[in-house]
Amino acid sequence: MPESAQPSPNRIAGSNKRKSSEPVARTSNYHQSVTANADPLRIGRIPICFFVVSVFFFLIGVCAMPFAAPYVAEFFYQAVVLAVVHTFTLGWITAAIMGVMYRYVPALTRVPIRWPRVAYAQLAIFAIGVSGMVAHFELGAWFGLWLAAIAVVISIIMFAANLAPCLWAQFGSGVAETGMMLALGFLITTASLGTLLGIDKTYDFLGGNVLTNISGHAHLAAIGWVTMSICAVSYRMLPAFLLPTVPLPRHALWQLYALAASVSALAVSLLFGLGGETIFAVTTAAALVWWVVIIGRMVARRRMPLGWTPRHALAGIAGLAVAIALGIALTLTGGDSYWGARIAPGYALAGLLGFFSNFIIGMSYQLFPGFVARARQGRGWAAVTIAELSVMRTRWFVFGAFNAGVAVMIAGFMAGSLGTIQAGAILGAAGGAAYALTTMWTLSFAFRAAVPAAAAQSALRILPE
Ligand code: HEM
Repeated sequence: MPESAQPSPNRIAGSNKRKSSEPVARTSNYHQSVTANADPLRIGRIPICFFVVSVFFFLIGVCAMPFAAPYVAEFFYQAVVLAVVHTFTLGWITAAIMGVMYRYVPALTRVPIRWPRVAYAQLAIFAIGVSGMVAHFELGAWFGLWLAAIAVVISIIMFAANLAPCLWAQFGSGVAETGMMLALGFLITTASLGTLLGIDKTYDFLGGNVLTNISGHAHLAAIGWVTMSICAVSYRMLPAFLLPTVPLPRHALWQLYALAASVSALAVSLLFGLGGETIFAVTTAAALVWWVVIIGRMVARRRMPLGWTPRHALAGIAGLAVAIALGIALTLTGGDSYWGARIAPGYALAGLLGFFSNFIIGMSYQLFPGFVARARQGRGWAAVTIAELSVMRTRWFVFGAFNAGVAVMIAGFMAGSLGTIQAGAILGAAGGAAYALTTMWTLSFAFRAAVPAAAAQSALRILPE
């Protein structure tokens, strides 16, 4: 079985000599697609449009890394750094999670998305809002920043209005549904808080310490929204892809509650200066270790071979381990101390690129080609296999260069060596750019009737049902 969990290949196609520009023959494939389109749980190209935006922001983010590195080395709280951080956190990570949720939530809950067309408007507002935020962070223009942030908040409310009705019915019973519902709540909270932090720069009404306020916002976002989503989606995806011999344990639901409670307590103690951050940092870390133990058992008892997806997931867990260690060290040193200024960038890198990005890259190898193949089927275009839509030969380079680059950058920050940081940034950017370009190529086949060269050349192909 190739890396992507392919649907059972049970149909042999004849030669595929049709030129991409020729009209598509209305074969049985077409009739299947008409049935597929009639299914209200199928949401067509919506997730793919989110992935295109996400991968585009990732490309911009990795290309900016070598230029932003000297600023981060000076101090992490700066205009350029804020711009690059939100290129990754909102543009890349949040857009990717939104795309995955649009695909999985209706399928999982068996409840159709209430306003599918609204998703396109939501994406447009999101992309414009995030671009505006990144540009105004870079310019240090706070008025423009919070106007753009309001657009992002509106887009997030539209997203929640579409998905929450599907998830709510199974809150507390379905593990993945509960995690995604909690994550949605954290997304709305953190986006509203971020917008308030921006407005506060103009009107100065919030009070409190700038660095602990930012830290409260960043933790609600990174752990409450992103990590919670990754935990929830992994509980749904890993059993399907690894076919473990052990079922998902019921206490997975309690792991999600523990994570939500700990990160909420951590954020409240940071925002209101209540103290006890180290205790809540440790309980948050314990909830994450709990998740690693649950998925570790499933990986150990898998029936499927390890491909690039689980390799990226394992690299992601290594990134999480480094982030946990540096995060706890940061609560002891404080962000504004000599060591805090060195640890904080390493902590953010381990979390954003080491943990989150590895999970998204790995997941995308598994999901994107399948989504594209299905979207083509829905439009009645010539069928292509997941293997034909996947670029396998660059995956070792993406894995090696991206992860080595992140590790070298973290080491450079800890050692205070700018040369090392920049070398790592260039290496990581090369791996990241290779990923983004090959993924764009895969996604492009959802928007054009042409078939990949490999499909056009082979006379006899096995097509998925
Ligand atoms: C609409 C959504 C968001 C808005 C409006 C927003 C806004 C902001 C603002 C205004 C700041 C600077 C605060 C200050 O200087 O006092 C900030 C910092 C930060 N945000 Fe966000 N944010 C959003 C989403 C996110 C997400 C989803 C994440 C992470 C997953 C995130 C992570 C961070 C981090 C790490 C910092 C600190 C960066 C540094 O110190 O260089 N933000 N955000």
